[in-house]
Amino acid sequence: MGGAAVAVLAAATARRKSGPFVSLFSRAARRLHDAAETAAAEEDKAGTQSRRRRRSSSSLLLGPDFLDTWDPISRDTTPQAPPRCAQADYDRTATIIDGKSIAEDIRFHIAEEVCQMKRSVGHVPGLAVVLVGDRRDSESYVRYKVKGCEEVGIKSLLAKLPGNCSEDEVMDSVSRFNEDPSVHGILVQLPLPEFMDEERILSTISLEKDVDGFHPLNVGNLALRSRNPLFVPCAAKACIELLLQSGIELMGKHVAVIGRSKVVGLPTSLLLQRHHATVSVIHAFTTNPEAITRESDIVISAAGVANLVRGSWLKQGAVVIDVGTNPIEDPTSDYGYRLTGDVCFEEAVNVASAITPVPGGVGPVTIAMLLGNTLDSAKRVYGQSD
Ligand code: GUN
Repeated sequence: MGGAAVAVLAAATARRKSGPFVSLFSRAARRLHDAAETAAAEEDKAGTQSRRRRRSSSSLLLGPDFLDTWDPISRDTTPQAPPRCAQADYDRTATIIDGKSIAEDIRFHIAEEVCQMKRSVGHVPGLAVVLVGDRRDSESYVRYKVKGCEEVGIKSLLAKLPGNCSEDEVMDSVSRFNEDPSVHGILVQLPLPEFMDEERILSTISLEKDVDGFHPLNVGNLALRSRNPLFVPCAAKACIELLLQSGIELMGKHVAVIGRSKVVGLPTSLLLQRHHATVSVIHAFTTNPEAITRESDIVISAAGVANLVRGSWLKQGAVVIDVGTNPIEDPTSDYGYRLTGDVCFEEAVNVASAITPVPGGVGPVTIAMLLGNTLDSAKRVYGQSD
């Protein structure tokens, strides 16, 4: 509210009030009001017109909805080879953060708790996955999630729908799982086919079963540090878990998060702030991202662009968490492609003090976090949460 408006409101409030403070308050309010009027008159001369023109509607204030397209190449549908990284020609300095073994440890403890739950209440946690279409990457992620459930004794249910099904059919699957008491967690594998309204579908998932943490209330509660979300998105939790388990201090550290997606970048930046880190969010419209990463103690990349982060982007001794899983052609691989990260590993490993590999870094810990969220949800249902 502008100064003049505050003064007017104060004067009006004072007029409505009675008692000994009224005249004093009105005098003060009038003085404020007069001062504001004088200032406004002066500003008027200096250019009210341009100020009026600049005042925006609330939809404009929320910003235009631009997609993060990282480079002109990615708009092209023909696959392009990512930039080649320089081969290491001197000793590596970085510790490799072993996501596989950290995930194994977490799964071990989850399996123990699932056994205990079965003994005490006769139920196990249940995770339902909705998969729409036949994207190879989504199918393989879902396979890993189902396998993870099997390993720890969580029941998994899969609703597989064709890519040309209707939005209502997806919503029906979600609703059925919402009502099923044996299901404690529901996830709709993203991305959905482009014609579907992702937000509408995701907000159908019951808040209490939103193990992905994408429901607007869970995201909002994550953003508000005085509140606690029921679930935090799994990849964001995985990044923090990897850093904490590697003994890396977050408080006061400058962290560059590359990417601002609902799945990784946004929740990771929010979670880092809850850990009192200073966060720079880099996105496709950021000018000179390398200058920001070079200033950062920790770089977390979730841009989805192979080899985006070069060795020259990093400060000596920085910690690097690579969330990227980008398929690149590889005729020597069984599938004709292999997964590579956002970070040019061969270069970064000579500059960083610690780095996660791809594969074997963030991925397995993310799945362990999903199993953990499902277990937490079931514990809440059966009155076993701390
Ligand atoms: N697609 C890629 N990562 C994720 C994830 O964490 N959850 C869901 N639902 N879809 C994804």
